[in-house]
Amino acid sequence: MLKPATRGSVWLLVLSVASAQQSLATHSSGAHRCRKLAKLGRFENTTIISSTYVVGNSTVQPWGTCSMGPVAVTAPLCRVRFSVKTSKASEANAEAWLPDEWYGRFLAIGNGGLGGCIDYTYLNYGSSFHFATFASNHGHDGDQGQSFYKQPEVLHDYTGRSVHAVSVVGKQIVKAYYSKPHMKSYFIGCSAGGRQGTYSALHWPEDFDGIIAAAPGTNFNIFLGSLGLLSVNTGAPEGNTSESFVPKTLWATVRAEIIKQCDGLDGVKDGVLDDPDACKVQFEALSCSNKAKADSDCLTEVQLEALLYPGYSLGSDATVIFDAMFAGDVVWLAKDWWKYVVYEDPDYDFTGFGLDDILAAEALDPSQISTFSGEFSEFAARGGKFLSYHGTHDNIIPPGSAQRAYDLAVDTMGSTFVEEFYRLFMVPGMDHCGTPWSEVPFMIGHYLPLPPTNASSHNILLALVDWVEGDNVPDTVIGTSSSGEERLLCKHPLRSVWTGSQYVCQA
Ligand SMILES: *[C@@H]1O[C@H](CO)[C@@H](O)[C@H](O)[C@H]1NC(C)=O
Ligand SMILES: *[C@@H]1O[C@H](CO)[C@@H](O)[C@H](O)[C@H]1NC(C)=O
Ligand SMILES: *[C@@H]1O[C@H](CO)[C@@H](O)[C@H](O)[C@H]1NC(C)=O
Ligand SMILES: *[C@@H]1O[C@H](CO)[C@@H](O)[C@H](O)[C@H]1NC(C)=O
Repeated sequence: MLKPATRGSVWLLVLSVASAQQSLATHSSGAHRCRKLAKLGRFENTTIISSTYVVGNSTVQPWGTCSMGPVAVTAPLCRVRFSVKTSKASEANAEAWLPDEWYGRFLAIGNGGLGGCIDYTYLNYGSSFHFATFASNHGHDGDQGQSFYKQPEVLHDYTGRSVHAVSVVGKQIVKAYYSKPHMKSYFIGCSAGGRQGTYSALHWPEDFDGIIAAAPGTNFNIFLGSLGLLSVNTGAPEGNTSESFVPKTLWATVRAEIIKQCDGLDGVKDGVLDDPDACKVQFEALSCSNKAKADSDCLTEVQLEALLYPGYSLGSDATVIFDAMFAGDVVWLAKDWWKYVVYEDPDYDFTGFGLDDILAAEALDPSQISTFSGEFSEFAARGGKFLSYHGTHDNIIPPGSAQRAYDLAVDTMGSTFVEEFYRLFMVPGMDHCGTPWSEVPFMIGHYLPLPPTNASSHNILLALVDWVEGDNVPDTVIGTSSSGEERLLCKHPLRSVWTGSQYVCQA
């Protein structure tokens, strides 16, 4: 369970005498300080746009062009909207949610996709757990690559500079509002946010004491390149009429067959493949040349070949994100990257897209967005802790991405060193970032209902806090499914195996 952060033994003493110091005495003093926040300190390169006190269990209107409709605010807090000028040609719009009951921690939040959007779910989540919580649009609104077209400064902000700027200014805002500095600082992000957290540890190792980099979109150019190749192989850009195109209805057939063949491998028939790599599917069972199959329920040889092309885990559910990934068009992430950044040619045509185009992106690698390095020694030397997790059924970023990032750190710094500060958990059955549409998920992240999510054994953010502040090394965490079932998860590369009576971690 979450307790206030402490700064060594002196603070422990002070806190045990007067823990009320951690929070603003009353709502009315919070409301008063919130109103005059702009006058309480000097904030680097920053315009305070508004600072408004919000009572708990209410809603507010979001800022920017990304979200529709009001967003939830659980804890009573001061909501600050501000804008940081990051260069002559760029600025980041950000929000601070400063809860009345503050436990001394700073929390910054990453983005998804090519966004571009203030994440209100995380703002509410962090402030509910008593973090002074910050989210930004990372330098542009919206999830489209046009924002980067001939705008290298805007791209630099998305790549990671805005995370640094908002962290510097955010800490100044915290100090002004609470009249004392934060004690520990954290970052949490998934997908693009997982890459931003990694980028932060590599480029600004002093910004955070603990970082969660979930389902990281690292090795960025190669990842987007693989999406481009996947699109070309599964039917684009010729479109849905391509021979290799696999229509939406057939993806369910494919998945059902895989689950049927491999579900029992982990010792439990529960519709979840704990270790998709262990599944060696006989794909012939899906072939139209197999007489047991009805014509509408089978794949042609060409479709089978397209299906087998690159690296999503077997058993992932492709139907839920069909329109983004397999709809017979080039995935927008890849399309926008090559059109607006790599070739600066909005009319670029993906016919013939291949390895040379991926190499061109790698050669350009603007702002070092690739984020593929295992050199974390400065971050680690400061005592920083790095936690990653990835769903084995991620259908947007292949789960191998987090494993390759981890393995790269081991190759670069050695396993003994990495063991000191870096953990990766593979989450069986979880899809991209543990999104609420998951079918049979085990979750450890912010979509978990409360309680028991405030237990550090079940919740990845609280596990990180416990590691940074309490030296409780997270070698296991417990995943929770939507039906309340629990599953032991082991640090990579160990696997969670059912012995007949319990789960244990095995090599
Ligand atoms: C979560 O927090 C609540 C309120 O502080 C507490 O009553 C509950 O026991 C906590 N649950 C766990 C699992 O720590
Ligand atoms: C919000 O609602 C919950 C559940 O009804 C309640 O326990 C809590 O005290 C409320 N918080 C505020 C600030 O009103
Ligand atoms: C503020 O602007 C200056 C000049 O552009 C820059 O050097 C500095 O890094 C900026 N500070 C932050 C926190 O972005
Ligand atoms: C493929 O079909 C979908 C509808 O299933 C349609 O929205 C999309 O535009 C089509 N793509 C192409 C390239 O024709």
